[in-house]
Amino acid sequence: MEKKEMLYEGKAKKVYTTEDPDVLIVSYKDDATAFNGLKKGTIVGKGAINNRMTNFIFKKLEAQGVPTHLVEELNDRETAVKKVEIVPLEVIIRNYSAGSFAKKMGMEEGVKFKCPTLEFSYKNDDLGDPFINSYYALALELATQEEIDDITKYAFKVNEVLQQYFDALNIDLIDFKIEFGRYHGKVILADEISPDTCRLWDKDTHEKLDKDRFRRDLGGVEDAYEEVFRRLGIQ
Ligand code: TMP
Repeated sequence: MEKKEMLYEGKAKKVYTTEDPDVLIVSYKDDATAFNGLKKGTIVGKGAINNRMTNFIFKKLEAQGVPTHLVEELNDRETAVKKVEIVPLEVIIRNYSAGSFAKKMGMEEGVKFKCPTLEFSYKNDDLGDPFINSYYALALELATQEEIDDITKYAFKVNEVLQQYFDALNIDLIDFKIEFGRYHGKVILADEISPDTCRLWDKDTHEKLDKDRFRRDLGGVEDAYEEVFRRLGIQ
């Protein structure tokens, strides 16, 4: 499968058309941004790690009944994916307090919840991805009730599968963000699942093994991504 023309360039990926109108090629970059693009940098090797980790996880999720956009990994950085229309919702699941939740609720980070939370942000950079609920999503026609129901069901399933998986790698899945797309009338999991989009803490040391190292200038960013990749044991 060959790239034809670049459709768009995002903060972390480039997207290309192919000869198949139903298939795109995503190319993962080493570029990193935070705070809606205010902070910029490079995480050497991130593109390849995020590409290979996402595909590895998406295959596991497919096997557990979560449909994804994955078609085929082409090389270290590039993957063929189904061309979807992205549902403009960032879907965030949290198992422990951290990040914006901890700030909003005046809580310390790392408190385990009795049950996971789910929240939506409206994917809109100009507005800074504001927090919304499902009634806003319906009123603004961002998604239908049926789509919201499917997204909610799949998001909790993703959490269940990922939690179990990371648990075996001695990692606590603190929280994560996923995105969905429409493909021939159904919603399927799209975008990526990587240390860019999850909070992953070592179970024993509580060391952060994710993009918070970049966001918060903690150092050892590349080492953290490589450590997660190593524990996954991807061949
Ligand atoms: P938050 O605590 O900052 O709201 O982040 C929740 C989760 O979502 C965390 O795992 C990081 C991820 N995330 C993204 O993937 N993209 C973003 O733009 C933001 C703000 C968070």
